[in-house]
Amino acid sequence: MTEKDFIPKPYSNSLESGSFTWSSPSNIALVKYWGKKEHQIPENPSISFTLDNCKTTTNLTFSKKSNHDGFSFEVFLDGEQKDDFKPKIETFFKRVEVYLPFLKDYHFTLETSNTFPHSSGIASSASGMSALALCLMSIEKSIIESDVTLNAPDSYRDERPFNNDYFIQKASFLARLGSGSACRSLEGDIVVWGKHDNIEGSSDLYGVKYPYEVHQNFKNYQDTILLVDKGEKQVSSTVGHNLMHGHPFAQQRFEQANKNLSDIISILKSGHLDKFIALVESEALTLHAMMMTSQPYFILMKPNTLEIINKIWSYRKASGSKICFTLDAGANVHVLYPESEAPQVLEFIQNELVAFCQNAQYICDVIGLGASKL
Ligand code: DP6
Repeated sequence: MTEKDFIPKPYSNSLESGSFTWSSPSNIALVKYWGKKEHQIPENPSISFTLDNCKTTTNLTFSKKSNHDGFSFEVFLDGEQKDDFKPKIETFFKRVEVYLPFLKDYHFTLETSNTFPHSSGIASSASGMSALALCLMSIEKSIIESDVTLNAPDSYRDERPFNNDYFIQKASFLARLGSGSACRSLEGDIVVWGKHDNIEGSSDLYGVKYPYEVHQNFKNYQDTILLVDKGEKQVSSTVGHNLMHGHPFAQQRFEQANKNLSDIISILKSGHLDKFIALVESEALTLHAMMMTSQPYFILMKPNTLEIINKIWSYRKASGSKICFTLDAGANVHVLYPESEAPQVLEFIQNELVAFCQNAQYICDVIGLGASKL
């Protein structure tokens, strides 16, 4: 597949109006995406667990407008108009217009809500952009289907079968253009994004479901997200990615990510949790090491992030637990552990880690199956 395969044949836009709702989860990377080329192409492949409880639900209503100039839309979060979300969506619309030629023909109302608190420091861009991309794909699908039912001339019809695989692949492709990690949020339970020679079907253009055997140890893997700092991000991820250009350790980092992706294949197959822990924690710390060694440099961990990491290490040493942590580009800690350990680990979290969370807040999540149409 190339970008061109996502440009549809002309359609007649006979559809007057409609509305679609999709719910899409967040995801947590095990091997991190950090650094991108032009057009949201990742510098290295990444792999993530799709989450289940942390979700965005988006309803997109569309109605035909009389002119074709400019994008016309309004955005609501939890029922409140959010004009400050508009520039990001406008940029997204501009990037995807060539793949969704109907965008200037309709006025859109986007109503969105997250299951997690907006100010939790949990990025909503992955779940938000994937939910929006799926709504747009539902519109494209119904435009094409309505063309067919109205007996539109053959030239209006897209000959490519509009099957489910293509729908998801194009939605992931569009989501990527909104926010890179969003392309890993459509399916579950493990998704790879970025071309890797050992992963069949992997692509820089969209996420694919991890195609190989996964050991029972990873079934219903738990992710408890400790909310250490709920403030606005100090550095946007786009700025962070750009700091990998000219970064003194960039090439070694991209090579390491490729190797970690090779290594995780046998770890996922064998269920070797000690190796899993070593790889996942090293990835998290490397991500932050990249931030600490870029120009300008920055530290996104907080003192409580380190307190939690040290507590996790002591608990693991003392109990033999397979608990581990990962981080995204912020201070919150994702605590990962097998389902079989859930009761003990939750007790440990409540007794020893919650004290380091802002307002004692944490979110219990689990590896999930991806987006759903409501
Ligand atoms: C640290 O996907 O938020 O979470 O493509 O600029 O929107 P943009 O970046 P984004 O970056 C996520 C970075 C990360 C690692 C990861 O999820 O792989």
